[in-house]
Amino acid sequence: MIPWELLDSVQVPGNSGELRLYKRGREFSIRVDGCELMNSSAHGSEDALAELACAKVADRPNPRVLIGGLGMGYTLAAALSRLGPNARVVVAELAPAVIEWNRGPLAALTANPLRDKRCFIREEDVAVVIEEKRCNYDAIMLDVDNGPEGLTRKSNNWLYSKEGLEAAFAALRTEGVLAVWSVSSDRSFTRRLKQAGFEVKEVSAYARGSRGGGRHTIWIAIRGS
Ligand SMILES: C[S@@+](CC[C@H](N)C(=O)[O-])C[C@H]1O[C@@H](n2cnc3c(N)ncnc32)[C@H](O)[C@@H]1O
Repeated sequence: MIPWELLDSVQVPGNSGELRLYKRGREFSIRVDGCELMNSSAHGSEDALAELACAKVADRPNPRVLIGGLGMGYTLAAALSRLGPNARVVVAELAPAVIEWNRGPLAALTANPLRDKRCFIREEDVAVVIEEKRCNYDAIMLDVDNGPEGLTRKSNNWLYSKEGLEAAFAALRTEGVLAVWSVSSDRSFTRRLKQAGFEVKEVSAYARGSRGGGRHTIWIAIRGS
């Protein structure tokens, strides 16, 4: 068995946690305080997050979407491949190092989607970007943690709270989609989405796509008219 090699280690902005990038052969792993946040060998549900959200908005004239959390760029690459030339994809990533990793050792995993002209990277907390403007996005895709519970940093809990969901609702255009990734289901989160005004569908997606693996949860929440 090839041992994991530590490529880089940085502080998570705004807290004391440590974000690390590891490599083992052709496989990469991003971990926060020892807990795996993303692994390059299983990205089926991260792809599905973008596929499900973009399927609802790709036909609009100039779709504008926001992705929270760059990670290894799989959700971004899947969104770009589903959207047309007039789309604009804003990616908010908290950790500058993650952006550097995507321009460096991770770039080949997804054919470097950061170079796509439709992609606009923001070195920023996605919460700040959500709160900037009302009625601004056709879709918001959130994959910043392992689910509706802040793993990367406690302040991410706001994104999944009543206030955070109301802010996401306000940032979406009519019939806009909030898509949220999670390692598992969470009934209280479904309830909060409904209370914030969304029509909610919970979908399960395989970690390894057509190759199966564990099942993850994706909430597709629509802002009605
Ligand atoms: C699980 S990974 C995302 C995986 C990604 N969907 C993919 O396809 O590779 C989570 C990412 O979210 C970032 N992140 C965590 N909290 C964030 C926040 N509040 N705003 C923006 N990015 C955040 C982390 O640094 C990490 O890069």
